[in-house]
Amino acid sequence: MTVIDEPGAVVDPSLDGPTVGVIVVAAGSGTRLGAGIPKAFVSLAGSTVLEHALAPIFRLRKAVQVVIVVPADRVGEAETIGRRAAGKAAEHLRVVVGGDSRQSSVLAGLAALWPGVRTVLVHDAARALTPTEQFERVIDAAARTGWGVVPGLPVTDTIKRVDASALVEQTVDRAALRAVQTPQAFPRDALVAAFRVAGDRLAAATDDAALYAEAGHPVLTVDGSEAAFKITTPWDAQRAERLLADRNRERGQEHEAGERSTSSIRTGIGIDVHAFADDGELSLAGLSWPGERPLAGHSDGDAVAHAIVDALLSAAGLGDIGSMFGTDDPRFAGASGEVFLRAVVERLHAAGFVVVNVAVQLVGNRPRFAPRRTEAEGVLSALVHGPVSIAATTTDSLGFTGRGEGVTAIATALVERR
Ligand code: CTP
Ligand code: MG
Repeated sequence: MTVIDEPGAVVDPSLDGPTVGVIVVAAGSGTRLGAGIPKAFVSLAGSTVLEHALAPIFRLRKAVQVVIVVPADRVGEAETIGRRAAGKAAEHLRVVVGGDSRQSSVLAGLAALWPGVRTVLVHDAARALTPTEQFERVIDAAARTGWGVVPGLPVTDTIKRVDASALVEQTVDRAALRAVQTPQAFPRDALVAAFRVAGDRLAAATDDAALYAEAGHPVLTVDGSEAAFKITTPWDAQRAERLLADRNRERGQEHEAGERSTSSIRTGIGIDVHAFADDGELSLAGLSWPGERPLAGHSDGDAVAHAIVDALLSAAGLGDIGSMFGTDDPRFAGASGEVFLRAVVERLHAAGFVVVNVAVQLVGNRPRFAPRRTEAEGVLSALVHGPVSIAATTTDSLGFTGRGEGVTAIATALVERR
């Protein structure tokens, strides 16, 4: 960031830099606000008007050059504020000293633009709550048309033209009126030329588009926004503070809701492996499989049920199947997978968790699982009080499962704290 005293004293560091420049005029004294300090440096909801005004500009999709125009004795403070608002984009920032009138402040801003800037936006710092979307709308319309572009709102009050003694002369057709705001965009060279030829009319112009149009150029209006109102009086400042307080409250609520949703949903994983045994009947995935070789184990060897048990316990942070039941506890000798599942789900509910879903992958040659998939999913879903889906695969004859020595089951579970 550089402060310049004379126009042209600083060379554009890169002609590949931004082609859009935003001049933020903040050199006014704020007489009508009456805060005793320049308006842009008055604090609203904990930050200065200038800081609020800069924030949406540094949220634009494409980087822009930003020139801040301030009173001579506020340059240092404006640099600090600007750097804070710009973050990593501080290299695109300049602070310059303004003049006695708004127009002379705009001129000081124009003189500080880098050579690469083709389109210039002029923005009042006093419109501190102007949303980023309004800047985008103006920039897009300027790029599309090559014209001057001003944001404006339809006029809602009935407008009267009056004479010098306040007698109504005429009711003006308000459908043809717009109350215009900033930022106002222009092709840079044409705006500079319009200012140059304005001469005496410069002082009378209340916005830049008036000078630009007087020089014979077209000016298009696009939608403005209520939020872009100009902070002029103490009443305006109170309105801005209220809006900022509402915004902060909404952000706080969103943040809290985000925290709740991330901390209450938890994922878990479990795996179990059993070898085939010689005698008995196979129990797997909560079903009996007559005619199939059984799986060996201290319990019934139901690898699918055991993998789910571990996934659920891991999701809830309640340990694992061994720590909950004890692998050599005689009470569970020969116990069915169903017994473990019921006990674990009870434990989860007691800890305040419900099951969102469970997914299982069974790996093995036998039994052929597909014909009974739906039946198994039904039994297990009822046991865990949540949807269980099961996929089965073989390993192309590789490994112990491929050789038909046993099966592996891998499960994931999602649980939610209620
Ligand atoms: N402005 C400026 N230089 C000036 C006068 C005004 O940069 N010499 C800027 C203001 O800082 C403001 C914008 O132009 O962002 C619109 O002006 P206005 O709302 O009139 O602000 P002030 O002139 O500061 O307020 P007042 O007229 O009440 O003194
Ligand atoms: Mg003023």
